[in-house]
Amino acid sequence: MPSILAALTRTPNPEHFALSVFDRDELDGLRRGDRALVIFPDFGRDESRDSDARLEEAAGLAEAIGISVVEKRALNLRQARPATLFGKGQVEQLAVATRVAEANLAIIDAALSPVQQKNLEDELRVKVIDRTGLILEIFGERAATAEGRLQVELAHLDYQAGRLVRSWTHLERQRGGFGFLGGPGETQIEADRRMIRDRIAKLRRELEQVRRTRSLHRARRQKAPWPVIALVGYTNAGKSTLFNRMTGGDVMAADLLFATLDPTMREIELPGLDKAILSDTVGFVSDLPTQLVAAFRATLEEVNAADLIVHVRDISHPDSDAQNAGVRQVLREIGASEGEGSAPLIEAWNKIDALDDAAREQLCNAAARRDDVVAVSALTGQRVEDLRQLIVERLDRGSAIHDVRLSVSDGENLAWLHRNGSVLDQQVNGDSMQISVKLSAIDWERFQDRVNAD
Ligand code: GTP
Repeated sequence: MPSILAALTRTPNPEHFALSVFDRDELDGLRRGDRALVIFPDFGRDESRDSDARLEEAAGLAEAIGISVVEKRALNLRQARPATLFGKGQVEQLAVATRVAEANLAIIDAALSPVQQKNLEDELRVKVIDRTGLILEIFGERAATAEGRLQVELAHLDYQAGRLVRSWTHLERQRGGFGFLGGPGETQIEADRRMIRDRIAKLRRELEQVRRTRSLHRARRQKAPWPVIALVGYTNAGKSTLFNRMTGGDVMAADLLFATLDPTMREIELPGLDKAILSDTVGFVSDLPTQLVAAFRATLEEVNAADLIVHVRDISHPDSDAQNAGVRQVLREIGASEGEGSAPLIEAWNKIDALDDAAREQLCNAAARRDDVVAVSALTGQRVEDLRQLIVERLDRGSAIHDVRLSVSDGENLAWLHRNGSVLDQQVNGDSMQISVKLSAIDWERFQDRVNAD
């Protein structure tokens, strides 16, 4: 991920950072292939969700960034211990499990205090991260827009600032009078805090700047040259599986150049369309830590540029309805759906293969009664073609015949109209052309953007 470490170590005077905490290996981001134990401390507070579902979600999050989950455990807890969260016996049990599973990472699906994190690292002898740390890694990997990246970096710094006590107490000796440290008497930790504070202030200024530019862009409504379809939904709903199935991703994944450019955007073939882009987005998670809300929204903002939103739902999930309400609310709040000028939204009710026959039939019937829903299985491919059809139908909605006048020398725009619409009539009149063309509402808007930008 483009972590703050990379950003900070790019600053001109590397000597300064030789003294700083940021060079330390243990602060480095997680690595693909890390072997993790995933632990959910179950306080029995959330009656509506069972601990298996929580564990599955946390494991799914870890797997989404290439971590291999070697064991999952829910541990019952009556109350949190300030020093290690878990009780003594449980910590010993976890230490054994870590060794047996040869894990090099423990993910605790809860918020850990810096002290708890440090103590658990000492006891388990592996790197320990909590839910916030894990989600930050995912956002870092997925943030696509400038604002998204800045917001994630800010949240990351904020999180790090609280954690400076962690393994660096030995650095807390006096080191006054040289290097980047402040005046005599400033300790290493104070210096690191100051550096983080400065960086946070700078990021806030950059963020403000990005926001200003963004509203200008919005005003101009700059659009991608092709229709963009965004997949949104809860983590584990099957977005990536659907994305791969619809774009032939298994083949494309081998195309490293493409994958490095942007693994979450790929061309999708749709009947009757010249070209369209399918975009996978960061998944929603339950109980999003509050300090990550801004980063999540900014990461999701790219959905605002989409022409159509496909909400992928795990319809076999017990929380499916609550998840649906949550997704819709956030989309409304970031202005991506249901507002004026926002993209239409359709739903893909995924994982119908996981239902028994009666439930599947009932759902498929309910889906058939709606014109904005297709019940699918991304895993088996069942009805994915129907989803493709519905996407085309929605992108095509509002098509109308327009009369357009172009200069005879404007071959480029003429070719564009032929590619994206149905040209019904074309006549040359002196040095101009009169064209009658049928275009979808989305393409008409896009064409006007093109012409106005010329
Ligand atoms: P994030 O990347 O965490 O946001 O998750 P995602 O929404 O991209 O989900 P992903 O495609 O990674 O799928 C999550 C799990 O659900 C995987 O184990 C998939 O194999 C499984 N899955 C996806 N689609 C289906 C389906 O149609 N049926 C069944 N039974 N399982 C599915």
